[in-house]
Amino acid sequence: AVPPVLRVADREDIRGWWPVAGRESDKYTRGVVGVATGSSTYSGAAVLSVAGASAGPAGMVRYAGSAADYVRQRYPSVIVTESVERAGRVQAWVCGSGLGTDERAAGELRTVLAAPVPVCLDADALSLLADGRMQDLLRERSAPTVVTPHDREFTRLAGFPPGGDRVASALGLANQLNVTVLLKGDRTVVASPDREVWVNPTGTAALASGGTGDVLSGLLAALLAGGLSGVRAAVAAAYAHGMAGRAAAEGGPVTSTDVAAALRSSVAAVLA
Ligand code: APR
Ligand code: MG
Repeated sequence: AVPPVLRVADREDIRGWWPVAGRESDKYTRGVVGVATGSSTYSGAAVLSVAGASAGPAGMVRYAGSAADYVRQRYPSVIVTESVERAGRVQAWVCGSGLGTDERAAGELRTVLAAPVPVCLDADALSLLADGRMQDLLRERSAPTVVTPHDREFTRLAGFPPGGDRVASALGLANQLNVTVLLKGDRTVVASPDREVWVNPTGTAALASGGTGDVLSGLLAALLAGGLSGVRAAVAAAYAHGMAGRAAAEGGPVTSTDVAAALRSSVAAVLA
């Protein structure tokens, strides 16, 4: 096989891809992003992924899940329902952070995977997929699918650890599941089933803080809802998320809430 060309994302790439609202835009053409994350136990994950999604280019954010009341209180602009089934029109989903792995969570994931729209899968969605039973649903999808594992999630999902060659590993999983893989870490790698590979240069160890991944997957889904391909949405989300981590770190030790708060202005700075 031809060795993949490894590209390092730069600001011009992101600026060129990021969907920008124009005079013709309305909230639907800008994209509706659906957030199926969180649970009564992990309501914070719901809020962090909604924050990520809200910093993207989407015209509307819908939240579907059991942290509905918690989200409603914090985000008056978000349209809230208790289940994916009842969410109404959505143009891309993010699913998994803090969702849990019980039967209810599995049912929500199944509904998301059956939707004919782009999907970003993170955290508990990856745990649910790791046992193999739902992987057929992944392969049957024709809309873009992006998975965003950290190393342990990657290992469970792929059946092998990312090891030293993270590019080869990400490509391997992309091929195995027919999805775009965003392998998180010091230098986040994005690999697609058609062997496109990108490395994100903006990461910072300041992001190694609980919940920052939830912000990332929310933003990624908003970019999918805005019409970007799986690869572009993943690369652009990682780039802006890294910039937000750096900006937040200027104020001292970073929490995921700080990263979420910095995201909007970091996006604006990347696009300026
Ligand atoms: N350098 C640069 N970036 C880093 C580094 C590092 N050393 N370490 C972590 N990051 C970035 C990753 O690239 C990613 O964007 O921080 C983010 C961490 O995301 P996650 O690993 O998903 O962490 P978290 O948000 O805490 O996950 C919350 O979801 O994945 C589950 O088990 C996890 O329950 C936990 C929950
Ligand atoms: Mg995570």
